[in-house]
Amino acid sequence: MTLSWSDPEPDDSLFDSSDDRRSRAARTRDAGRSSLRGWLNALGVRALAGGMHRVYGRRKRALFADLPDTVVEIGPGPGTNLRYYRPGTRVIAVEPAPHAHRMLRKAARKHDIDLDLRPHGAESMELDDASVDAVVATLVLCSVGDPREVLAEVRRVLRPGGRFIFLEHVSADPGTNLHRVQGWLRRPWSWAFEGCELRRNTGAIIRAAGFDSVDEERFRVSTSLFPFSPHVAGVARR
Ligand SMILES: C[S@@+](CC[C@H](N)C(=O)[O-])C[C@H]1O[C@@H](n2cnc3c(N)ncnc32)[C@H](O)[C@@H]1O
Repeated sequence: MTLSWSDPEPDDSLFDSSDDRRSRAARTRDAGRSSLRGWLNALGVRALAGGMHRVYGRRKRALFADLPDTVVEIGPGPGTNLRYYRPGTRVIAVEPAPHAHRMLRKAARKHDIDLDLRPHGAESMELDDASVDAVVATLVLCSVGDPREVLAEVRRVLRPGGRFIFLEHVSADPGTNLHRVQGWLRRPWSWAFEGCELRRNTGAIIRAAGFDSVDEERFRVSTSLFPFSPHVAGVARR
């Protein structure tokens, strides 16, 4: 486990401000609605796929190395992660945004993935209790209405010993310049990127979600989207 900066325990002043609370229901609704912004976001994620591969590829390869034959991925968008699964893997893709579906299907064909697309949010997955060995989420918990609700659902569907594999951008440390900048940019960023929260303390929220263990690495990426640089990645076990 590599820790490169402090990540405080969940703090409602960071995660659950009144702004965040007011917009949660709306964001959950918006994720399932086709819109110009939705199309632009899905196209943007696809356009950034090469850059994301350069930035995250090594970590994703390590995280995805020994996944089982069937994986649940929540919020796969246009299918950025499909290249990291073994050809033939069955991916149950829980993706509420309709504008991403065509790109996701195309990526599945390209990478020989057996895609089982579920067009609804990860807050309520139509999967049995303790029926899944691995759930994957990358850059998703920043955008969901309530990450605690989604993580409770992830725990519900995982078998004992099952893995939740995550890679997420997170809030900078309070008191730093970057944290201040994240605060200034928070609203326009959230508008432009469909509800993405720059200041969400996702590492701490995952650690508080009731998993048996959480093995995580915190890291920064250097990117032109600089308010986006602090990240957390790892594996939580049920
Ligand atoms: C920034 S994109 C990330 C896409 C992809 N995982 C990646 O790493 O490139 C966020 C994705 O989360 C999805 N999303 C938003 N709310 C969701 C929810 N409640 N349940 C599942 N997915 C959701 C969005 O539709 C979008 O595809």
